[in-house]
Amino acid sequence: MTETPAPKEVRRSPGRRFEPLPPWSGISTRLVHGGRRPDYNAGAVVPPIYQTSTFHWPPERSESSGRAEAYLYSRLTNPTVEVPAEVIRDLEGGEACRLFGSGMGAITATVLSLLRAGDEVVALDGLYGGTTDLLTDLLPRYGVRAREISEREARAPESVVGRDTRLAIVESPTNPLLSVHDLGRWAEAVHRVGAVLLVDNTFASPVNQTPLSLGADLVVHSATKYLGGHSDLLAGAVVGSASLVERIDAKGYFGSPLDPFAGFLLGRGLKTLELRVARHNENGRRVAEGLRDHPAVARVHYPGRGSAEEEAIAARQMRGRGGMLSVSLRGGAAAAERFLDGLRFVHVAASLGGVESLASVPRKTSHRHFSPSELTARGIDDGLVRLSLGIENTEDLLRDLVEALDAVAGPAEAEPGSPV
Ligand SMILES: Cc1ncc(COP(=O)(O)O)c(C=O)c1O
Repeated sequence: MTETPAPKEVRRSPGRRFEPLPPWSGISTRLVHGGRRPDYNAGAVVPPIYQTSTFHWPPERSESSGRAEAYLYSRLTNPTVEVPAEVIRDLEGGEACRLFGSGMGAITATVLSLLRAGDEVVALDGLYGGTTDLLTDLLPRYGVRAREISEREARAPESVVGRDTRLAIVESPTNPLLSVHDLGRWAEAVHRVGAVLLVDNTFASPVNQTPLSLGADLVVHSATKYLGGHSDLLAGAVVGSASLVERIDAKGYFGSPLDPFAGFLLGRGLKTLELRVARHNENGRRVAEGLRDHPAVARVHYPGRGSAEEEAIAARQMRGRGGMLSVSLRGGAAAAERFLDGLRFVHVAASLGGVESLASVPRKTSHRHFSPSELTARGIDDGLVRLSLGIENTEDLLRDLVEALDAVAGPAEAEPGSPV
């Protein structure tokens, strides 16, 4: 029997013991078979859930001292959690991936690990509200300056990043207005001053867009959304080069690892990501078309719709436009309320990226911390409703949405039961 030497150190980044997949394998093949390891107990096809906080240590004291990886404590690494980490790393095309207990866990750990007093972070003013809160409430207390830039300024990133900029944070498409930004141009501008470009890729999903391939240094996800896909877990991911990811939460002091059971659910959800995103894309495209001319709708916000420039950027950097869109209703807040009241199966709830469609009012959910004037400055009007289109049948979805809009437009215009 050949003796495998006991590992000398704790592996903190995903191990490299996964069975390699043929280089020609497509996305769904990689999603289904990624993260396979030869050392699962009992030859299970589905990775077991290692629901344990700790492991025998030092490893030579355990019965299975010949195992490939040494684990010490689940706040640092856990074999169940390594599986989805490997799949997401592969999908985004990075060298390393770390998972956290939520998207905000990943974003906070990333930002706090990379910045120090005196640094400046440049951020789009259309970022997820929680990220904006972190940048504007917490960072100034530690001497880090956060500079928010408008949609218009963000069109010319070379004029907004400066000598003190250490980090730039961009989302594309943005939340909730679905604006599209040129990630390649951002990468060039940010690298010119030696800073790091962090892209929140939650809305697009790596099936539709891979920012690392466009020049970004790091990608974060609220894996709670499309990656998990079933609205039943909270998770966050950061992906990038091994050297950058190693710097993030290097000693596990943020204390927000992904729990093994949530890691199992995330791995299970990931297997169908490409199939789900294909339907989300189709529903997004057809609902954007279907609602555009409705009398109750002033404007549909959908990736690439903002301008010819945005359309060109979206066509270049996205493989699909996703299932997120927002509608500005002509009747303001009252119309938004009536619309939500009229929905039959679209849930009225915050969040996104699940198999079920959700509708929410950003003023009351993701952007509730902003003052009325801040909301207006960001283009978030009273009648704005954000839709996360699920994987329901497109005709059913359109019917539910159009009938609810008909009720908003008024009884005279509504034709109960009319086909869409
Ligand atoms: C774009 C985006 N990034 C990050 C987050 C935060 O993720 P989590 O809720 O998993 O902490 C959200 C949550 O809605 C989001 O929409």
